[in-house]
Amino acid sequence: MNIGGRLLAGPAKGPLRGRVNVPGDKSMSHRAVMLASLADGVTEIHGFLPGEDNLATAQMFVDMGVRIDWLSEDKTSLRVHGVGLHGLKPTTKVLDAGNSGTCVRLMTGVLAGQSFASTVSGDASLCKRPMKRVADPVRRMGASVEGQDGGNLLPLTIRGGRLKAIHHVSEVASAQVKSCVLLAGLYADGETTVSEPRPTRDHTERMLPLFGQPVHVDADGVIHLKPTGRLTAPEAPIHIPADPSSATFFAVAASLVKGSDVMLAQVGTNPLRNGWSRILAGMGGALELRSEGKVGEESVADIHAEYAPLHGLQVNPADVPDAIDEFPALFAAASLADGEFLLSEAEELRVKESDRIAVMARALLAAGADIEEYPDGARITGGRLKGACRVDAEGDHRIAMAMAVAAQCSNAEIVIDNAAAIATSFPDFVPLAQSIGMNVRWDGE
Ligand code: S3P
Repeated sequence: MNIGGRLLAGPAKGPLRGRVNVPGDKSMSHRAVMLASLADGVTEIHGFLPGEDNLATAQMFVDMGVRIDWLSEDKTSLRVHGVGLHGLKPTTKVLDAGNSGTCVRLMTGVLAGQSFASTVSGDASLCKRPMKRVADPVRRMGASVEGQDGGNLLPLTIRGGRLKAIHHVSEVASAQVKSCVLLAGLYADGETTVSEPRPTRDHTERMLPLFGQPVHVDADGVIHLKPTGRLTAPEAPIHIPADPSSATFFAVAASLVKGSDVMLAQVGTNPLRNGWSRILAGMGGALELRSEGKVGEESVADIHAEYAPLHGLQVNPADVPDAIDEFPALFAAASLADGEFLLSEAEELRVKESDRIAVMARALLAAGADIEEYPDGARITGGRLKGACRVDAEGDHRIAMAMAVAAQCSNAEIVIDNAAAIATSFPDFVPLAQSIGMNVRWDGE
């Protein structure tokens, strides 16, 4: 776990203003390096997120014999020399996913297709997260998965080979599960299908066709993949838009701090990632999309966020998967909004990098908020935050950033312990936050 790292945050000294180039999308960066590694040919990727999670995925492929040339010092551009679907080499090293659930769950699908055995593990937080959701389907496809708790907990040893196509009916709305099965499906003997209880982010489905592998979504939302037997490196580079999950922190901060006016440049607006903006707009947030366009198969826009008085709302459960990573930031908004915010059907938050319902509730309570936890969500009654407290982000990047946002409107500074995990998804959060005027710094800086 990414323990250590203390942030000192808030209150803001004035309005937040400026234009921010938020870094690349984490989900897409994982997928781009995976598909490029498994393709025949060389793929260039720009706008890659150089966070620890994505670097862990890239390192796994390097460990299995893929050559990656970094084209820029900041590791946002790279050239991946793909080895083809069957070109990965076994390693005796334990493949290390660090803090990243996306890395380990999608790689379970990739490793299930290999004719050799691999062992994957991760940090203390990842070792507590459930893996049965990916172990079960790849076992049904014919792979062997061994690990703690019957293969539910890391480390996992995955031995694959020829896989059978399956029809997977996922019990949980999870893009990681769907993507794991689709990636294993590249190695299967026929058409693999996945259906999910609610639609989830579809970056895998959008990116596979760029590598020559069609994916079909039928009228019932079932995803079909008939493997063509190979992936081909696209001629044009892959460009990755800015990450809406990172942009949310600044949009919420701008909404909360009086007089603020912030522009977030060319952020991904995929509807299956956009729940945060629907929820924030529903709370009274003043968001406007400008310069709308497309990057590859993904929609993007400049997001303009201004201060607006926020009020509570009852979150529509249909929006939950589309905002699943943004609830820490939205909880911060709710704790400072007028009236009641109610979230339900969001039990998945309890198995993220931390139990995000419990950890946010502890932190917000310490800061003076009125929040009641439910097994599947929370009720937050907004008001002032007194701050002048010490909270524990418990090694969860999004909790640390959400509390830094909440602190902008608290009466006094909030000390946020165990915030170093910010480096997993948003290494430049602090300097970018400072660039728009947020009052946040690393202790000792
Ligand atoms: C992700 C899917 C989501 C999300 C995670 C990234 C992905 O997880 O929380 O940060 O890239 O597929 P689940 O699939 O577990 O909901």
